[in-house]
Amino acid sequence: MAHTAAPGTERARVRPKDDQPVRIGVTGIGIMGSNHARVLSQLPGAELVAVADPDQEQAQRVANFLGCQAVGDHRALLDLGLDAVVVAAPTHLHHPIALDVIAAGCSVLVEKPVASTVEEGREIVAAAREKGVTLMVGHVERFNPAVRAVKEAIRDESLLSIAITRVGPFPPRMSNVGVVIDLAVHDIDLIRWFTGSDILEVQPQTSAAIAEREDIALLQFRTTSGVLAHINTNWLTPFKARTVHVATRKKYVIGDLLTRQVTEHFDYRPDGSYSTRHLPVAYAEPLRAELENFLSAVRTGRAPEVTGEEGVSSLEIAISCLPGSAPAKAAPSETAAEKRRALG
Ligand SMILES: NC(=O)c1ccc[n+]([C@@H]2O[C@H](COP(=O)([O-])OP(=O)(O)OC[C@H]3O[C@@H](n4cnc5c(N)ncnc54)[C@H](O)[C@@H]3O)[C@@H](O)[C@H]2O)c1
Repeated sequence: MAHTAAPGTERARVRPKDDQPVRIGVTGIGIMGSNHARVLSQLPGAELVAVADPDQEQAQRVANFLGCQAVGDHRALLDLGLDAVVVAAPTHLHHPIALDVIAAGCSVLVEKPVASTVEEGREIVAAAREKGVTLMVGHVERFNPAVRAVKEAIRDESLLSIAITRVGPFPPRMSNVGVVIDLAVHDIDLIRWFTGSDILEVQPQTSAAIAEREDIALLQFRTTSGVLAHINTNWLTPFKARTVHVATRKKYVIGDLLTRQVTEHFDYRPDGSYSTRHLPVAYAEPLRAELENFLSAVRTGRAPEVTGEEGVSSLEIAISCLPGSAPAKAAPSETAAEKRRALG
């Protein structure tokens, strides 16, 4: 499907037909954007038309490798008449870029966190809704097969607590956000998703041990459904570790998100013995599954797995964990699951 409208101009939104690939571009071809472009170039439902980055050498290198065009910014991308754009530029640029993409009538997948502030995130959500385009936020951990195996293991269980560890060394290039906004936002999203519930109470402890912004955090939460949750995250560990532990009334589930091993312990007996089961974990690249979900939402108009509203809710909780922030209060009457149902 070819579009010729310039960015910002009105045009009717037409969703690509089933037999046509979604014409898509990626803006911000750094670490994450290069991965998006690589996966999109391999997906049968997508046509990777171009990549954009002010670093022309980098954009050209990726474009040559993947066989698409290289342009300097998202405006030049939009001139190519696309159905959708992935925004993987630095976080502080998500807001202006996403608004331009939406104004041009294109669907958009914005990397996490959706924006730098809750207000900016809400503006992106409102613009997408008004324009009737698909907006998804790149909380890719939801598509990690080990996370999905944990989610399946706790389905229909009465959840008691969730403890998530996400630690590792400092990233090679420091962005202008700390570890809470960069890493803990993944786990805030997982806690909300596992519990189908919003976060009601936040008890954060953060510290800037070495960096300018917080580089170590222990965050405690209580959800509207009464589940206790804990996130241990930092950039001060020499190796990467990502684990999820979930206690339910009947089971204790442990997931290692890196080795993708998921185990449940159950059937506790008075003599101290119990049963252990290793759960099957599918083989899948999380980013591929995320992009397939996005392409399907673009085609059908159905809500993507991670909506803009959910991205904003997780960002709001993450920001409320920062020193000097007002505590975030979720509306206890409307859970995340209810909001998702309402969004269809
Ligand atoms: N979902 C995840 O697991 C995950 C992992 C890493 C990063 N991210 C997110 O992806 C985004 C990018 O992170 P990264 O680690 O790839 O950063 P990066 O620094 O590797 O890449 C950012 C790229 O954006 C380019 N850029 C700068 N200004 C631009 C502009 N105006 N338009 C287009 N591109 C521009 C830079 O030249 C650079 O190539 C961030 O929002 C980050 O939070 C998500």
